[in-house]
Amino acid sequence: MRVGRLLNKAVVVIMAALISVCLQTSDSRAHGHHKKQETKPAILLVTFGTSIERAQKSFANIDKRVKAAFPNVEVRWAYTSKIIRDKLARQGEQIDSPEMALARLMDDGYNRVAVQSLHMIPGAEFHEINANARLFARMAGGFDQLQVSMPLLINDEALGQALKIVKNQVVPKERKAGEAVVLMGHGTHHPSDAIYSALMYKAQKMDSNFFVGTVEGHPTFEEIRDALVEKKVKKVYLIPFMTVAGDHAMNDMAGDEPDSWKSQLAAVGIQSVPVMKGLGEVDAIDDLWIERLKAAMAHLK
Ligand code: CO
Repeated sequence: MRVGRLLNKAVVVIMAALISVCLQTSDSRAHGHHKKQETKPAILLVTFGTSIERAQKSFANIDKRVKAAFPNVEVRWAYTSKIIRDKLARQGEQIDSPEMALARLMDDGYNRVAVQSLHMIPGAEFHEINANARLFARMAGGFDQLQVSMPLLINDEALGQALKIVKNQVVPKERKAGEAVVLMGHGTHHPSDAIYSALMYKAQKMDSNFFVGTVEGHPTFEEIRDALVEKKVKKVYLIPFMTVAGDHAMNDMAGDEPDSWKSQLAAVGIQSVPVMKGLGEVDAIDDLWIERLKAAMAHLK
């Protein structure tokens, strides 16, 4: 009897507690203080950007492949280059900075976000995104989880994979023995510039007629040109080792100005064939980034 009455009392107390919790929940919901329970994942793709329209092909291909790999996930883009964003804005096209894109995602209620750097190396742009994304992740009332994934060339394995893909899928099939391939990397003042020298080392091990030069770092174009002359190479394929075949590929690599790589090679008797293809146009390269995104998304569950 006593046990039964106690049980009854306990049931009443529990019921009352549950009702009050429900009331509190609905009350606080009405005031917008409820804890987010639903999962609203988003992917933010961050790239340097380009204002060259045909270079956009790279981004379109990446966008298509990322959306296919993550069907129910919001996919957004941001450009790290303010110069490019401002230029596009003057033409009526608004592209967010990574910070603006993160703020919008937060405002739109996405609580789990994977940020993918579509840069080549973990240089200044990547470190800035990484630092700022982490600050966003610490903001109260914002994201529950946030992951930042690394760019393309982050270890020996990735360098090897990227080189092999370029050799098999970007270098024109008509290349003959003795003809060289020169990859044009961007290069940077940032310490990660050394990755291009590592890439050159691996390229040479893979194929002694494979070279890597950079526009703004090391190895320099002059080093590569001298090596080609020394090897008595007569013909080279010039390939941008960049997400897009944009301004650098069109002008610094393949332009008709006397200081382009093509013109400077012609000046020492080397014929060059520019291959105007951004790495983002190559599915197998995009899949290297997508593998990283998959790992990040698995962490967001
Ligand atoms: Co540049």
